[in-house]
Amino acid sequence: MLNDTDNEFLSRIGPGTPMGDYLRRFWMPFLLPEELPEPDCAPIRTTLLGEELVAFKDTNGDIGLLDNYCPHRRASLFFGRNEECGLRCVYHGWKFDINGDCIDMPSEPAESNFKDKVKITSYPAREWGGLIWAYMGPIETMPGLPKLDWATLPDNQRIISKRSQESNWVQSTEGGIDSSHISFLHSGVTPYLRDNPEKKVQRGNGRPMGFTTTDTSPRFAVDDTDAGLLISARREADQDRYYYRITQMLLPFYTMIPGAIEPGYQIGGHAWVPIDDYSCWNFSISWNPYRAFTDEEVKNHWSGYGIHALTDEKYRPLSNKENDYNIDREEQKYKTFTGIKGIGEQDMGTQESMGALTWRGGEHLGASDSAIIAYRRRLMTEVRNLQEGVESFAATHPDAYAVRSASVLVKRGDSYLDAAKERLEAKI
Ligand code: FES
Ligand SMILES: [Fe+2]
Repeated sequence: MLNDTDNEFLSRIGPGTPMGDYLRRFWMPFLLPEELPEPDCAPIRTTLLGEELVAFKDTNGDIGLLDNYCPHRRASLFFGRNEECGLRCVYHGWKFDINGDCIDMPSEPAESNFKDKVKITSYPAREWGGLIWAYMGPIETMPGLPKLDWATLPDNQRIISKRSQESNWVQSTEGGIDSSHISFLHSGVTPYLRDNPEKKVQRGNGRPMGFTTTDTSPRFAVDDTDAGLLISARREADQDRYYYRITQMLLPFYTMIPGAIEPGYQIGGHAWVPIDDYSCWNFSISWNPYRAFTDEEVKNHWSGYGIHALTDEKYRPLSNKENDYNIDREEQKYKTFTGIKGIGEQDMGTQESMGALTWRGGEHLGASDSAIIAYRRRLMTEVRNLQEGVESFAATHPDAYAVRSASVLVKRGDSYLDAAKERLEAKI
C-alpha cells in the first residue's frame, strides 16, 4: 500500500513533476516505423508524457518531433504540409525543421528577421530496434539508445505489436513484472477442467501451464541490477528440483518474460510508455535470439491468443473496456480462468479494471508482491536521487540493458543464477 502523496509521486509524469523529470532522462519508444513510412509522409499526432506533439519524417528521412501547437497563433501542426525538409503550418505558412528552427515565415516582410527569433519545442527522435524513439530530456544528458536484447537483433528475429491502454504506466508495468498472476490470469485450468482433464485445450487461450499451475504460490527473490531488477520466482518442480522463472525489469518501464525451459526458445517482453497519467502505449515484443521466426510462428503471434493483442488501425484493441474485453462467461466456466481471449487482452483487462490511476491506499500486498514493492522502491529512490542531482545509472548506460530472462530447472541447493548463466549468452 502507498499513501496518496507517494502514489502521486510514483504515477504522475507531466512536465515539472519529479517522475516526469526522471522519465525525460530516458529514450522512449513511441511509434512503429510503419506510422512514418516514407520521407514527406503525413505527420502523426501523438501525446507523450502528457505533452501534445506532432511527429514527421522529413525529405531526408530524418524524424522530427515538435510541439503540436504552432508558436505563431497556436494552430495544430498536425494539419501541416510536410515538404522540403520541414513542416509548414497551414494557417499562415510558418515552417519548422526537425530541430525546431523556423526556416520560413512568408507572412512577414522579406526584410524581417522575426523568424530567427522564433523556435518551436522539438525533441530528438530516432529509429532503432524496430521502433521510433524520442528523447524529451535535457540535451546535455542525452544518452545512447538502450541496447535491449530485442533491439539489437535483425527484423526477422523479432515481432513487435503496439496497442493503447487506458491505465497509468506504473500500474501497467507492475502487471508485467508480476510473476504470480500467470498461475491464474493466463491459466487454462478451472475446477471443471480439473474434474475433466481430457477436455483441456493444449494451447492458445487455455494453455497448460506446467509448474506455474501446480505451484501457485512462488517464492520470490529480487535483486537490484545496473538497469533494474532481477526477479526470480521459485516453484516446486519435483522431488529433486525447483523451477525458476527469472524475469528482468528494466528501468523505467520494460519487462522481460522467459521462454520455455528448452534452449533456443523465444522470449517475450513489454514496454509501457506513458501517454499521460491515465493511459499508455503498450509495445509487446517477441524475439528469438538464436534464429529467424518461421512463417508458422509469425502466424501464431498474430492469432489473437498470445501477448500481441488485435487492434484497429489506430492501435486501439478490438477487445477493450467498452465491450468488457469480449469476456465469454461460458468459456470462463468451462475452459479458461478468465473467459477473455488473448494473453495481452487478459493483462490489459485486469490492469485497466484497477482504475485509470489506481488507488494504492486500498491495496493489501502479500509475499507474492515483493517484486512490485521492490520496483516502486527502486523507482522512487532513483527519482529522489535525481532531485539531488544524481543521474540514473541505467539512463546513462545503454550497455546495461544487454540482459535476458530465462526459466530453468535447478537441483535443490544449487544456484539458479549459475544455471541461468549457462543457458544464456548475455549476462544476467
Ligand atoms: S498559426 Fe501557424 S503560421 Fe500562423
Ligand atoms: Fe500477464
